[in-house]
Amino acid sequence: MKCILIHYLVFFYCAARIYDCHITLSPNYRFDTEYEWSHLNYTWPSVERYTEALKSGDYIPEHNAPTGMKIYNENLYLSMPKFRKGVPVTLAYIRMSTTSKTKNELLSPFPNWETNDACNCTNLQSVQSMEIDTNGIMWVLDGVRINDNTNCPTKLVLFDLNNNGSLLHSFVFPNEISLQNGGFLNDIVIDDSDGSFAYITDNSNIDPGLVVYSKKKNRAWKVRDRTMFPEPAAANFVVNNKAIENLIPIDGIALSPKPLESSENRTVFYTSITSFHLFAISTTVLKDEQLCKTDRWRKNIQYVGEKQSQTDGMMMDSSGTLYYTLLPFYGVGSWNIRDPFVSSKIVNTDRDVMVWPDGFAMDQRGFLYLISNMIVNYINPTIALKLTPDVKFRISKLYTGTKSYLYPLFYKH
Ligand SMILES: *[C@@H]1O[C@H](CO)[C@@H](O)[C@H](O)[C@H]1NC(C)=O
Ligand SMILES: *[C@@H]1O[C@H](CO)[C@@H](O)[C@H](O)[C@H]1NC(C)=O
Ligand SMILES: *[C@@H]1O[C@H](CO)[C@@H](O)[C@H](O)[C@H]1NC(C)=O
Ligand SMILES: *[C@@H]1O[C@H](CO)[C@@H](O)[C@H](O)[C@H]1NC(C)=O
Repeated sequence: MKCILIHYLVFFYCAARIYDCHITLSPNYRFDTEYEWSHLNYTWPSVERYTEALKSGDYIPEHNAPTGMKIYNENLYLSMPKFRKGVPVTLAYIRMSTTSKTKNELLSPFPNWETNDACNCTNLQSVQSMEIDTNGIMWVLDGVRINDNTNCPTKLVLFDLNNNGSLLHSFVFPNEISLQNGGFLNDIVIDDSDGSFAYITDNSNIDPGLVVYSKKKNRAWKVRDRTMFPEPAAANFVVNNKAIENLIPIDGIALSPKPLESSENRTVFYTSITSFHLFAISTTVLKDEQLCKTDRWRKNIQYVGEKQSQTDGMMMDSSGTLYYTLLPFYGVGSWNIRDPFVSSKIVNTDRDVMVWPDGFAMDQRGFLYLISNMIVNYINPTIALKLTPDVKFRISKLYTGTKSYLYPLFYKH
């Protein structure tokens, strides 16, 4: 019996049968809600500006949803992709206060209002996610190009958080790597070796794949493989009474922690949303542009194992533990890189809080953060959205005592 059934009760039955399902529950691990929103709103420069945006349809409150989330110092950064009209800001932040459980905190545009004005292709258009390296440089994926809300090519933009978010660099992806019409740069991990690399998932329905960007060469290339495609056998799961029938390709990506010896290889993990399977490939292969242009690189793809369910975001911490979302289970699973994958377990499920757990971030104090947003409602334009007081977006956190994969590997006891 496989643990891929969508019914919640069946899941618990299944989870109790550890032997059959390779699942163990750790009841002591619980994500606690830290922030929640019924709708997103911003720190408008003036009442006039707000009123005007509301009137013109530049701001349609119920159309704004957060996806990407990362933390640096005392700021929590969020991205709002433009799946719908009426999203005036695509990258923003809140100050992380010591008082917990704030509702409907206003978001401040990052780095400012001007850069969020999509009037020209230099400015930010539609951002799905970002990562912040250990030097405080934010790598922003401006690459949601699945509708006609922008006509600009996809790009990767670097901002310096230690210098008021000043623009450091912008790399426009050629159309052959990420489609100007149909591209969907989804998630990013950073590897600081050999002049820094980014590994990026392109969730495009037309041309899904894994994009490699070398900062030193200022070049990008892309690998494509059927392990990055959706698996029809994993289609049709249910989240919040909504049947998800779309076939969704590569999305979640994680990188093994920074090795103690700089010569050691790191491993990139990836999975499609419509899939039960986790795959891995060495960064040594991905970094080799010439090898990636042959038929030989595929020999290095490793099959890691079968997950408990379909997954959106993933993240590895500095102890080599991978956290991955479990969409139809309203939860999060974990697995340590040193153990066989059958030892993977469900960390926590919460039917009320983890409604489409989307992605992760880590702070410097040993906490793992999770954002849940029921994002499929926003991507599908036929679903009617309403401004109501119900909570729709939540950020919750779990103490792990570790840092993110960006920091050197250490073994937790
Ligand atoms: C948005 O925030 C402004 C203050 O910046 C406030 O005046 C306005 O009522 C808020 N609108 C919504 C829809 O929350
Ligand atoms: C784009 O717009 C910004 C203002 O938001 C301006 O500073 C910048 O010069 C413009 N860039 C181009 C290439 O027109
Ligand atoms: C950032 O901006 C603030 C206010 O504009 C200014 O006081 C500060 O010197 C700036 N910091 C840097 C590193 O430029
Ligand atoms: C790193 O990967 C390359 C290519 O796969 C391999 O030749 C090399 O031995 C690996 N190094 C280590 C330390 O595993």
